[in-house]
Amino acid sequence: MIDVSGLSQTFGKKQVLKEISFSVGKGEVLAVMGSSGGGKTTLLRCIAGLIQSTSGSVQVDGIEVRKDPEAARRRMGMVFQGAALFDYLNVEQNVLFGVGRHLKLNSKDERALLKDSLARVGLSGNEHLFPSELSGGMRKRVGMARAIALSPSIMLYDEPTTGLDPITTYQIDELISQLRRELGVTSLLVSHDLMSVRRVSDRVAFLHQGELVFLGTPDQFLESEHPAIQELVTKTQAATLH
Ligand SMILES: Nc1ncnc2c1ncn2[C@@H]1O[C@H](COP(=O)(O)OP(=O)(O)OP(=O)(O)O)[C@@H](O)[C@H]1O
Ligand SMILES: [Mg+2]
Repeated sequence: MIDVSGLSQTFGKKQVLKEISFSVGKGEVLAVMGSSGGGKTTLLRCIAGLIQSTSGSVQVDGIEVRKDPEAARRRMGMVFQGAALFDYLNVEQNVLFGVGRHLKLNSKDERALLKDSLARVGLSGNEHLFPSELSGGMRKRVGMARAIALSPSIMLYDEPTTGLDPITTYQIDELISQLRRELGVTSLLVSHDLMSVRRVSDRVAFLHQGELVFLGTPDQFLESEHPAIQELVTKTQAATLH
C-alpha cells in the first residue's frame, strides 16, 4: 500500500532524510521510531504529499504521490503531531471539515457519519465542544475522528499518544488496532513509546540522523545492536522498572 523508494529530503544545506526505502503491506502497522529531529514527521509529510521530496519516489496504493498528490491524499488520513484542530471550530465542524470538501453528502448522511466517527473514538455527545474545552487526549481523538470520517485505506499517525496518560494511550492503541482489524486500514505510526509500538505494530523502522538503520519485527528491534536502538531500549526498560 505504501512504497517508499530512495527518498531524500534536504532543507537548505541540511539533509533530513537520506535514501529511505521501505514498503508497507495492506493492513500492516509499521511503527517509525527515532530520535527527536531525526526526520519522522518529514517522512510522513513526504508520504502525505504535503511537501515534495528532494529526490526519490513514494507510491500510495499504486499512485505516484509526486504526480497526483490530491488522489493519493484521498486515500490517506493523517493524525498530526499535537492534533492540529481548528480552535474556532467545534468538534462537529472539525470532524466534518474534510467531509464537506471531499464527499458531497446530504445533511442526514453527514450526521450519521459524524455520529459514527465520534462513536469510534469514544467521543459521542461531544459535538458542540470547542478544542479549548477538551483534554489533550480528547483533542487527539477528535483528530482521529476527522481522519476516519473520510474512510481512508491508509492512516498516518504522528505521535498520537505522546504526552498522554497510560490509560488514554491504551485506548488510542486499541483504536489503531481496531481500525486495522475491522476496516483493514494500513498504518504508519510515528511513536516514541516502545510499549505502544510492541502492542500495535507488526514491524518497526528506526530513523537515525536521517537514515533508515533498522527495519524488522518488534522482537528483532529489542535485540538490535545499533547503539541508538540499544540506548532507547535500555532507557525504556530502566524507566519501567523505576
Ligand atoms: N519545513 C522545514 N524547513 C526547514 N527545516 C525543516 C522543515 N521541516 C523540518 N525541518 C528540519 O528537519 C529536521 C527533522 O524534523 P522532523 O520534524 O521531521 O523531526 P522528527 O523526527 O519528527 O522530530 P520529533 O520527534 O521532535 O517530532 C529538523 O532538524 C527540522 O528542523
Ligand atoms: Mg515529529
